[in-house]
Amino acid sequence: MLKHNLLKIPFFDINGLNSRFQDELIKVFSNFISGKDYILSNGVEQFENEFSRYCGSKYCIGVGNGLDALRLILLAHNIGPGDEAIVPSNTYTMNEVTSVGATVVPVEPANDFNIDPSLIEDSITNQTKAILVVHLYGRICRMDEIKLIAKDKSLLIFEDCAQAHGAYSDCGKVGNVSDAAGFS
Ligand SMILES: Cc1ncc(COP(=O)(O)O)c(C=O)c1O
Repeated sequence: MLKHNLLKIPFFDINGLNSRFQDELIKVFSNFISGKDYILSNGVEQFENEFSRYCGSKYCIGVGNGLDALRLILLAHNIGPGDEAIVPSNTYTMNEVTSVGATVVPVEPANDFNIDPSLIEDSITNQTKAILVVHLYGRICRMDEIKLIAKDKSLLIFEDCAQAHGAYSDCGKVGNVSDAAGFS
């Protein structure tokens, strides 16, 4: 019988990623906790300023989590019942669209696992208000093609950047290549 003595390669080594920041993170968290100033604190404001600079965007607002950020973006743009939003079919980001009462229009991904821009146009109707792209596994979507479609059809573009902090392409850096973006 073949003995399986395989090399194990972790799919997503979160400890490996975080260990080099551990001391710094513990210091920041412990100052934050002992400061007891959790809402609208200096720490949050400092984070908002630093993160907007990192993304190259004008504004950043700290909220509870990534899904809240996307929900608030949809509400802020008056997207609700009767509206449609195009969303990749292989993510759960579509829950945010249904949570504001709008209709999800799923579009299949391409080989890079991100939404396939060549399939978007056929999914647009008179009710379509936005394309909500999700940059999965650290890879930015094909924003040049998506931006052309959105411009042509007067649609908003929003980004779910929960898995792609710092990713960029010729189009720019995630969080700064659309009308608004949410991070986790
Ligand atoms: C692609 C994607 N979108 C949204 C979220 C939700 O983020 P949060 O857990 O901060 O609400 C996640 C969380 O991992 C995610 O991977």
